[in-house]
Amino acid sequence: MELENQVIIVTGGASGIGREACLALAKKGADLIVADFNLAGAEAVAGEVQALGRKAHAFKVDVSKADEVKALVDFAVERLGTLNGMFNNAGIGLVKPFLEMEPADYLKVIEVDQHSVYYGLLYGARKMVELGVKGAFVNTASIYGSVAARGSFNYNAAKAAVVSMSRSGALELAEHGIRVVGVAPGFIDTPILGDDPAAKAPLAIQHMHNRLIQPEKVASVVAFLFTDAASAVNGSTVAVDDGFLSFKV
Ligand code: NAI
Repeated sequence: MELENQVIIVTGGASGIGREACLALAKKGADLIVADFNLAGAEAVAGEVQALGRKAHAFKVDVSKADEVKALVDFAVERLGTLNGMFNNAGIGLVKPFLEMEPADYLKVIEVDQHSVYYGLLYGARKMVELGVKGAFVNTASIYGSVAARGSFNYNAAKAAVVSMSRSGALELAEHGIRVVGVAPGFIDTPILGDDPAAKAPLAIQHMHNRLIQPEKVASVVAFLFTDAASAVNGSTVAVDDGFLSFKV
């Protein structure tokens, strides 16, 4: 139980990578705030965490709103007494060719995928410093933070910023005993990819095992990154990409 009684917030906790991270963290002993725009989904996951014997509360949040992320951090401390970590994971995609991408399409993804991580780091770290807690942040970036994808000008920009903020955040917060790391998933089999098998097949072949990655595989790395065993991982973004960034199809 490497995370026994640690209080960790997971954003985007209702689905996919976030849901699996909640379960993996709970199995290591953590108590969770399952935060998501989808409250019913977050409540269901909080129930699954409780069934594992840990404390969990659901919280409805729009991570693109600074005041809501601040309220989320306050809620965690109010309900569970402290804050040891935060998985800034909620995100969306909005794919359009660059010449058709309006500023609103660009800004939507920047606000949800990028600014959310800044708000989580800012309000989460201020609270940890106020409480005198040493802890860790994990931020969900993407392979698309490192390579360009067609139709993803907005997403590429946001995820590259998450890689950068994980570095800068780590540097700024190290003196407080707070680590910040990124995780860069490959193509993970979650609802964000849609449900068209024909659209998923070309993604699968970009992995060395020629299949999509299951969200538990990202969650197990995320849970590890919160533990003391990962205390020397700081500022970097860890790829969980089954080789995507290491070879050309
Ligand atoms: P998902 O769609 O299963 O889960 C995303 C969750 O975020 C959903 O529960 C959704 O309700 C929540 N969410 C969306 N906008 C929100 C907002 N404004 N406020 C609060 N919650 C919000 O997708 P998945 O795959 O689990 O995505 C998690 C993260 O992983 C995202 O940041 C995504 O960009 C990233 N990622 C996913 C990859 C994939 O292939 N599935 C690849 C690389 C990165």
